[in-house]
Amino acid sequence: MNLWQDFVTNQGKIIHKWVHYFPIYERHFSTWRNKSLTFLEIGVFEGGSLQMWQRYFGPLAKIVGVDIKPDCKKHEQPGIFVRIGDQSDQQFLQSVIEEFGVPDIVLDDGSHRMEHILQSFLFFYPKLPKNGVYLVEDLHTAYWEEYGGGVEKPGSFVNISKSFIDKLNADHSRGAVEPDLMTRQTFAICFYDSVIAFEKGDVWWKDALQIGHASS
Ligand SMILES: C[S@@+](CC[C@H](N)C(=O)[O-])C[C@H]1O[C@@H](n2cnc3c(N)ncnc32)[C@H](O)[C@@H]1O
Repeated sequence: MNLWQDFVTNQGKIIHKWVHYFPIYERHFSTWRNKSLTFLEIGVFEGGSLQMWQRYFGPLAKIVGVDIKPDCKKHEQPGIFVRIGDQSDQQFLQSVIEEFGVPDIVLDDGSHRMEHILQSFLFFYPKLPKNGVYLVEDLHTAYWEEYGGGVEKPGSFVNISKSFIDKLNADHSRGAVEPDLMTRQTFAICFYDSVIAFEKGDVWWKDALQIGHASS
């Protein structure tokens, strides 16, 4: 069963997702199905999404949910772990990775506030393994003032991510952009309606090759 079918036939705990996210999830997550992985979702709410991820990724997956509301602890079950804390609290996030290891995938569906999104991203992204995925959803809030957003607003996560595109291309900028971790450890940054997905990768070989025989 694909993730969309699982979602629309869900009879269990409530899952709260925009429908157009499902093809995005499949695109970035499907290669991890039935592999050993640690999947961390920020934002547990009613616990339904954690169960959905467990069904999707299979029995080798460790599903870790993080939420600020203590009541979310009740959504723990075998293979699903919930830790209570603030996604912007580095000490809390550190305790989570000390307990479960660095996640392979992080899905940020937490407060959707710009400063929280950035703090969680800056904490996790450098630590994610090669081929890890960091996906932030509900980024319509990046355009909403009450969440710290706004078009071209410096603190908006969409705006900050636009500058990550320049970092990704820094090697071609003729010195205009200093390469950094985003340059060295990122394979792709994918923008969708309300979602940005970062795929890590060690792109160590950058050469434009001409291979083949010239026509006579
Ligand atoms: C949109 S809901 C999560 C929905 C859930 N992932 C799903 O798909 O069904 C957002 C959750 O983030 C939690 N949250 C809000 N602020 C947070 C923060 N600063 N740190 C961690 N969790 C937070 C809320 O308590 C709420 O349960």
